[in-house]
Amino acid sequence: MSRIEHDGPLIIGGGLAGLSAALEAAPRRALVVTPAPLLQACSSAWAQGGVAAALSHTDAPALHAADTEAAGAGLVEAEAARLLTADGRETVEWLASLGAPFDRDAAGGFAVSLEAAHSRARVARVGGDGAGRAILSALVAAARAAPHIEVWEDGRLRGLIQDPAGRVRGAVIERGGRLVEILAPAVVLATGGAGGLYAETTTPAALLGEGMALAWRAGAEILDPEFVQFHPTAMDVGLDPMPLATEALRGEGARLVDGEGQFLLGGALDADLQSRDVVARAVHAARAAGRGAYLDARAAIGADFPHEFPAVFAACMRAGLDPRETPIPVAAAAHYHMGGIAAGPDGRTTLEGLFAVGECAATGVHGANRLASNSLLEAAAFGRRTGRAAARARTHAGPAVAPPPAPDLKPADLARLRQVMSAEAGVVRNAAGLTHALAVLDDLDARAPGALPLIAARLIVEAALARRESRGGHWRSDFPTPAAEARHTRLRAPSLAMAE
Ligand code: SIN
Repeated sequence: MSRIEHDGPLIIGGGLAGLSAALEAAPRRALVVTPAPLLQACSSAWAQGGVAAALSHTDAPALHAADTEAAGAGLVEAEAARLLTADGRETVEWLASLGAPFDRDAAGGFAVSLEAAHSRARVARVGGDGAGRAILSALVAAARAAPHIEVWEDGRLRGLIQDPAGRVRGAVIERGGRLVEILAPAVVLATGGAGGLYAETTTPAALLGEGMALAWRAGAEILDPEFVQFHPTAMDVGLDPMPLATEALRGEGARLVDGEGQFLLGGALDADLQSRDVVARAVHAARAAGRGAYLDARAAIGADFPHEFPAVFAACMRAGLDPRETPIPVAAAAHYHMGGIAAGPDGRTTLEGLFAVGECAATGVHGANRLASNSLLEAAAFGRRTGRAAARARTHAGPAVAPPPAPDLKPADLARLRQVMSAEAGVVRNAAGLTHALAVLDDLDARAPGALPLIAARLIVEAALARRESRGGHWRSDFPTPAAEARHTRLRAPSLAMAE
């Protein structure tokens, strides 16, 4: 094992959060490490929605914050939501200044569209449904051109280096089959979410919650891991991961129906634009009852589909389905992890030297249920704040070590994990199913002790079992009502306990 010293933030992850942090770390040198070439295997490149921000003259950050809090079902931290939404316009303008080609209105302003649970049209989009890739492409170009940024596109995070006081002093990276220890004044985890723990997901399958697991193992606080968001309109066309049919289709009037053409959520015009957890449960229930669930865009979008939603149209056509003529079969699939490493808006975690940003972090802005298109805003806005804070971190001396890397799961064991997570820790949960999931995790742990996806899955399942209520994305069929008081789950190794 070799050891190198880097004089600046070490950023693990090259999605929107990681690159925003790297760009803002200037003039400190930022080393960005990703397991795959930039633009591959990160969720932000796959985002179809856009960036939510108060951009129209009928909107205001306070209205955006109120919608964010309402969607979050009692667990949004008001100050974090205020900061996020106040950053909205400036963040979109910063992304545009880097070359993100946002759709414009006739007056040259940002064109905005409506998504579920927003009281105003406020999602800035690119090319209809191509926001993620277009925005990230602009940031990749900026990062490649920035003299203070170095990028390793073949490095996998295997461990965190800590000193005896628990301060995080660096990370272990596997590169070309060898382990390299990198010491740095700040380690920024921007490792993405945990959708790959589920057999049915819209996220890259490689996202297995490993950053959260390593942070937990190092002693960082994990916030609300049981809150996983299931997207109601993942396309059920036999692909893994499942292609997304963006919520904006419903914003444009596409309707959710069953196999008989009956509305899933009633005939009211805005019925399908209720908060995402409500719609996901309706889709899940229709499928579980054998009625099927379909997104019918024929009347509302019809012939405009290819140019209004080119990415969804291409995915449909690849699957042999023309959405101008046929309703799209849909299922609810794991889409976003609201829980994660407890972090402030500037990425600070409970461990000195460790920062977290983007989907692996839980900053309190999403609560129990994320408002659509708030995640790209959070990744960029809090990514910038995190880059500036991490750049101020100072180097420490003295001994620092990392535990040996955890074993990987064999493909068959990973498949079993994903199946049990979708079946028992998915849209509908109960004590019997979650207890069964824990037994499977025990069994798998005996085969690969301490494997990081198992730690991440256990955090989700144990917290879901302990939360004996239904709230936001967490639905317990055996406890269907919300508790009178909304409480966070705060977990730290080695014991799991409800707090606050
Ligand atoms: C979508 O376009 O439906 C997804 C947007 C999001 O998850 O924020």
